[in-house]
Amino acid sequence: MATIAAEMKSKGIDVINFSVGEPDFNTPKNIIEAAKDAMDQGYTKYTAGPGMIEFREAICRKLKQENGIEYEIDNILVSNGEKQSLSVACQALFEQGDEVIVFRPYWVSFPEFVRLADAEPLLINTIAENNFEPDFNHISTKNIDNVKGVILNSPSNPTGGTWSESAIIKILKLAKMNNWMVISDECYERIVYDGKFISTEKINRLHNIGATIITCMSLSKTYAMTGWRIGYSAGPRKIIKAMSKIQGQATSCANSIGQRAGIEALLGDQKYVKEMLSMFLSRRDLIVDLLNQIRGVSCFLPGGAFYAFPDFSTYLDKRAEGTLLRDTFDIAEYILKFANVVTVPGDGFGAPGHIRFSYATNKDTIKEGIKRVKSALEKIY
Ligand SMILES: Cc1ncc(COP(=O)(O)O)c(C=O)c1O
Repeated sequence: MATIAAEMKSKGIDVINFSVGEPDFNTPKNIIEAAKDAMDQGYTKYTAGPGMIEFREAICRKLKQENGIEYEIDNILVSNGEKQSLSVACQALFEQGDEVIVFRPYWVSFPEFVRLADAEPLLINTIAENNFEPDFNHISTKNIDNVKGVILNSPSNPTGGTWSESAIIKILKLAKMNNWMVISDECYERIVYDGKFISTEKINRLHNIGATIITCMSLSKTYAMTGWRIGYSAGPRKIIKAMSKIQGQATSCANSIGQRAGIEALLGDQKYVKEMLSMFLSRRDLIVDLLNQIRGVSCFLPGGAFYAFPDFSTYLDKRAEGTLLRDTFDIAEYILKFANVVTVPGDGFGAPGHIRFSYATNKDTIKEGIKRVKSALEKIY
């Protein structure tokens, strides 16, 4: 899709892009200033492998104040983006012969992190009408003898679904009972619209469940810092140490300037985060409303992140401009060619029939883009 879009753009065609996976805002000024100061003060060298002590202390303060979970700095590993945190967590915890539960629709990297650790993902369905929460009946039909872990992601990419506390409790109890390691990807923790975000580890502690959790978080989405590559994990010392050994051999440490700026991001003024959230909220309401006005499309109201994940399955097996729409790759390609709009096909996330629309773009673009999608699809019905 990106290649076709690039070709179209090079021909001067006005293409609207709903595939973006990052906030469209710039990093807040106070964080940029902190990075400049860091460079002026000489924070331009290698740091301790698991992360600068001051930054890990800042992370501990943030986790205590923001998430209500207490850790010491030995429980923290700073990585080059949360993607690295998740990847090294899988490498430290899993090996050949292991299976790891990944919920479908999944962020495309989850099954690959598991495979890179020589283990195999065990895909479990979620229920679309229920905020894409796990289908526990599906788990009960599976042989779970080789399962060693489970990856959670609420709010989710690609669905924007947020799981209820009761669903998380149920998973944690299963994890405790079966000795599964839990990796909780919480990179969208601050982009939650309805209700308050509660970290999986906090739920674990509140209810005395006793599951083993590696919490992975990121500065990327919360502070529009995707290019800075700063993420972190919090978990039991022994696991963090193993992750740190693997990471240290691959990349030594995360970038020093980003870590200094990260202290300001986590502990400085959070005004920007509130502003970003209210902008995303009004865009969410707009895009979901517009998508639901398209004939045959239904879109549930996502509780978090910045993705809408509507169901386009009524368009499957229809003919459009002489082409049979066999899957969402075909639908997305039709939308790109005849509406000049880039979307992401759900088949890539293990979700046939769905298409992901990122609303990390302004409202005028959302209105124009969905108008174009609507008129292109009206030709099919
Ligand atoms: C669900 C999810 N987890 C983790 C990440 C990784 O974030 P980063 O490596 O930028 O910290 C992303 C980025 O798109 C994501 O969508």
